Amino acid sequence: MTDPSDRLRELQEAGLGAISAAANESDLLDAKGKYFGKKGAVSDILRTVAYLPAEEKKRIGAAANAAREALESAFDARLSEIRERERAAREGGDPLDVTLPGRAPAVGHRHPISSTMFEIVSIFQRLGFSVRGGPEIEKDYYNFEALNIPKDHPARDMQDTFYMDWPGMDLVLRTHTSPIQIRTMEAMRPPVRVIAPGAVYRCDSDVTHSPMFHQVEGFAVDGGATMADLKGLLTEFCGMMFGSGLPLRFRPSFFPFTEPSAEVDIRCVICKGSGCRVCKDSGWLEILGCGMIDPAVFGFVGYDPEEHTGFAFGMGVERIAMLRHGIADIRMFFENDIRFLSQF
Ligand code: PHE
Repeated sequence: MTDPSDRLRELQEAGLGAISAAANESDLLDAKGKYFGKKGAVSDILRTVAYLPAEEKKRIGAAANAAREALESAFDARLSEIRERERAAREGGDPLDVTLPGRAPAVGHRHPISSTMFEIVSIFQRLGFSVRGGPEIEKDYYNFEALNIPKDHPARDMQDTFYMDWPGMDLVLRTHTSPIQIRTMEAMRPPVRVIAPGAVYRCDSDVTHSPMFHQVEGFAVDGGATMADLKGLLTEFCGMMFGSGLPLRFRPSFFPFTEPSAEVDIRCVICKGSGCRVCKDSGWLEILGCGMIDPAVFGFVGYDPEEHTGFAFGMGVERIAMLRHGIADIRMFFENDIRFLSQF
C-alpha cells in the first residue's frame, strides 16, 4: 500500500498543475473542489488520519495540512492573477485612456411617494398656497389638545400612535399633519394659505396601512372663507391631479377640529364607477378629509372666530399614489425593491 504521504505529494503536484493551468475562475474552483475543497482528495485523507496510530497521525496530519496550505496559497495567487488579467482586458489594456467618454454615475430618481407629494404641493403652490412643515416628534398639545381632541376624547382611539417615554415632555410621533395648522396660526396672522406635506405615524399595519405614511395638509384662514371656497378649491385640485371632469362628492363626516366636516370621494379611477374590488363595489374612492376650521381651534391660537373663518383638508399621499398607479399593497413603497421603484 502506498504511504499516504506519497499520495499527498502526488495530489499536491497534480493540484498545483491544475491551478496554474486554470484559465478562469470557474476552472480554478473546479481544481479546488477536486483537490483541496471540503470534499476534495486531501480532505479525504485528512478524514482517515483519525484511524491511524498516534505517531502516524502526527506525521500524516502535518503532511496533509502542509499540502492543503500550499494548494490554498497557489489558489489565491492564481485567483488574483486571473482577476487582474480580466480587469485589464475589460479596460482595454491601457489603464487610462483620457479620450474615452466618462462613466456617468447611475442617476436615480424620485421615490413615487415623493413625486406624488411634490405634485400635490405644486398644484396648491400654483393656486397661491405657501409651503410649511413641522416636527415629526410632536407635542401632545399640537397633535391633539389644540385640535380640540382632549385627553380622554374617543377620537384619539382612531389615531393611536407611538408615545415617547420622556418624562415631563408629553411627546408623540404626530398622527397627522394637522398640528402644522396650529403652529402656523400661532406664528402668523390671517390671511394664511398654507400647504404642509410630511410623514405621519400610526399603530397600524396591513396592505393599505403602514405605521409610517405621508399626508399633505392644506388650510386657509381669512375674513370670509366659506365651504363653497373649499369645495371649489378641492374640485379644481382633483381635476388637476386626476384629470378634469372627474366626478367627486362631499360626504358629511366628523373631525374634532372642523365643523362642519366632510370626506371627499372621487369616482373610482379603476372601474369608472361601475363597482370593483378597489372601491368595494361602491364606485367611489375616499381621498381626503376636510371641513371648516372649528371656532374652538381658533380659541387655542388667539384668532377671533367672529372676525375670521377658515377651512382645512388633509389627504393621504400613499393612497393617492396607489390609486394613480394601480398598486395594491402599500408595503411595496417601503421595501426599496429596485425592480418596483425603477418603474416610476
Ligand atoms: N387630520 C385628519 C386625518 O388625519 C384629516 C383632516 C385634515 C380632516 C384637515 C379635516 C381637516 O384624518
